[in-house]
Amino acid sequence: MRIGVLTGGGDCPGLNAVIRAVVRKGIKEYGHEFVGFRDGWRGPLEGETRELDIAAVRGILPRGGTILGSSRTNPIKIEGGVDRIKDNLASLGVDALIAIGGEDTLGVATQLHDLGVNVVGVPKTIDNDLGATDYTFGFDTAVNIAMEAIDRLHTTAESHHRALIVEVMGRHAGWIALHAGMAAGANAILIPENPFDVEKVCEYVRNRFQSRYAAIVVVAEGAHPLEGQMSLSHGELDSFGHVRLGGIGEFLAREIEKHTGKEARTTVLGHIQRGGTPTAFDRVLATRFGLQAIDAAHERDFGKMVALRGTDIVRVPLIEGTKELKTVPIERYRESEVFFG
Ligand code: F6P
Repeated sequence: MRIGVLTGGGDCPGLNAVIRAVVRKGIKEYGHEFVGFRDGWRGPLEGETRELDIAAVRGILPRGGTILGSSRTNPIKIEGGVDRIKDNLASLGVDALIAIGGEDTLGVATQLHDLGVNVVGVPKTIDNDLGATDYTFGFDTAVNIAMEAIDRLHTTAESHHRALIVEVMGRHAGWIALHAGMAAGANAILIPENPFDVEKVCEYVRNRFQSRYAAIVVVAEGAHPLEGQMSLSHGELDSFGHVRLGGIGEFLAREIEKHTGKEARTTVLGHIQRGGTPTAFDRVLATRFGLQAIDAAHERDFGKMVALRGTDIVRVPLIEGTKELKTVPIERYRESEVFFG
């Protein structure tokens, strides 16, 4: 079989580990051939490919990003996009696609499968918010990067008697904020699932200053105050209709200064959370996803995505990837509140 591989959406540490596993097992055990499509759905849409053989995947396991490139191209929104993809796959002799991506990429994969394209999906997102799988690779790396940053901010916050706000990624789900904040002993953790009371946050900060310890507030980019809306720093939407978030950290710093009289500064971790080398956990999870994905393609078990359930890698219908956003359950958030203030 000739199998195309693509990576779509925001990049994520572990993507290369998936590609490597797919290609290594696919060639060694099954004798398949591979075509790398460049930049997500833009590759099959424009017929842009790169070589993908054993030599191409040597040395990429510890590398962040994706050797295939990525984009947020949505072929369904482009007139004639689906037909162009079908034509390009046919002219390249590609029988099946392995699409590695988050809810947007998997959403397109589901629609293409319904329209007759042979697709297997692999879920990825640092946000860990896909309902179909217990964990996505990239999340553990992002949490560790944020944790280390918060550890570092502790010492400077203490030296300068400042409140430090750390803004982390997470549009609709506060998993990164919750895990990084818990692991690094944050003073307060604010997530999109639980609108916060500004006065309560200021109380936590005041309390922390009384104990002469660092006041560190971890806030997810999509968190918002009780009375307010999400904080938007850019009005434009991407091709999947997402707004670019940002600004909640600055908003909080201003409020904390106003209400507590203490100096407050914000650190926005941004894309640092997505860059660099994946943790061992993410490398192993991504590798196991890749091995299961090539098995599915080899068995022509299309319309499926791989998922982690407990410690097992299983296959579930592709549609599951976009069905349910996995947000932080309130009882998980309540566990962390013990350490606030
Ligand atoms: O979905 C992954 C993610 O990193 C989100 O946490 C974040 O909101 C978004 O992507 C940022 O996207 P971009 O890099 O396109 O600005």
